[in-house]
Amino acid sequence: MVLDKYARGISDLRISLTDRCNLRCTYCMPKEIFGKDYQFLRKNEWLRFTELDDLVEAFVQLGVRKVRLTGGEPLLRPGLVKYIHGFHRFPQIEDLAITTNGLRLAEKAAELKEAGLNRVTVSLDALEPELCGTINGRGIKPELILAGIDAALGVGLGVKVNMVVERGVNCGEILPMARKFKKMGVTLRFIEFMDVGNCNGWNQERVVSGREILQQIEQEFAVEPVDLTSNNEVAKRYRYADDTAEFGLITSVTQPFCGGCTRARISADGKLYTCLFASEGMDLKAFMRSDDYSKADLLARLMKHWGARDDNYSEVRSMQQTTKSKIEMSYIGG
Ligand code: GTP
Ligand code: 5AD
Ligand code: SF4
Ligand code: SF4
Repeated sequence: MVLDKYARGISDLRISLTDRCNLRCTYCMPKEIFGKDYQFLRKNEWLRFTELDDLVEAFVQLGVRKVRLTGGEPLLRPGLVKYIHGFHRFPQIEDLAITTNGLRLAEKAAELKEAGLNRVTVSLDALEPELCGTINGRGIKPELILAGIDAALGVGLGVKVNMVVERGVNCGEILPMARKFKKMGVTLRFIEFMDVGNCNGWNQERVVSGREILQQIEQEFAVEPVDLTSNNEVAKRYRYADDTAEFGLITSVTQPFCGGCTRARISADGKLYTCLFASEGMDLKAFMRSDDYSKADLLARLMKHWGARDDNYSEVRSMQQTTKSKIEMSYIGG
């Protein structure tokens, strides 16, 4: 039965362009598991850009006005800039963003902006160089990512920064990160460590709640909530009292927001997922490559599938049996 509470429209489409990444963040792709033997999707398994165009066209008809390109690391997908340029044919899309680790952002920012990208969200979990390198699993120092952020700001892209906070790992970085991005006027979002996928060693004790994070920030800064009535946003927004900079808390573990979850996610191999914590998706690629394919039928299938969804994983997390294997965040994107 579909509960009314979960019968919601689609506002946001998230497209993963590859499950590969040039980092190995401990909370997402721990290198012990994502080593050289790990079976990533083969390139011929990826949905082609022309197929993605049909999908975007259908989702636009279903009301989507916001698209986010994710990965793995989307900047690793060949042809990305040209693909972004192609979004001009969808004037209904008001917001086109990308989630990136920032490693290649300095070299790509200008052409991404020129192609029509509006915003980037960059993952960065620590400013202390050793710790940053340990968390990203590849020893990459924050300077490189910060250079990417500067480049993005320099060409006029909107920029947000995502920091996953994990107890015993980077709690000491909350204030340094807050200070740094406040000064830069960049919105930093603190994200509760989530039990996505099967291999990041998640347990409840390692979750630092949004409430704790806020308490730390309030020790140093006066802050006030912004527009907390808006239901469609994942982040709880706050403003510093002494300037216009904002930060956000993404409290998907301690204060789940499934009731307002309006995101559809497409994996790089063309499956539709209606929840980050799903085990299975609907195989759109198989259908799109079959003789039965038509745009009208695609639209009908998407409507039917979405209409039947009743996802609410974060609300029932503690009651879940953990026997089912979940998809990995690197496969489906953030
Ligand atoms: P914009 O509004 O487009 O700026 O982005 P956003 O606020 O939706 O945030 P973003 O896409 O950067 O997502 C940030 C993080 O929030 C993700 O990487 C996840 O960790 C978490 N998150 C985003 N969407 C969901 C969701 O639907 N469910 C859950 N449980 N977590 C989510
Ligand atoms: N918990 C919370 N967020 C995660 N991300 C990846 N793994 C996790 C996790 N275990 C999100 C982060 C990162 C984006 C690419 O994916 O927000 O910035
Ligand atoms: Fe790569 Fe992003 Fe996952 Fe880090 S969080 S390993 S940058 S996909
Ligand atoms: Fe949406 Fe699933 Fe996240 Fe709940 S747990 S907000 S249903 S993606």
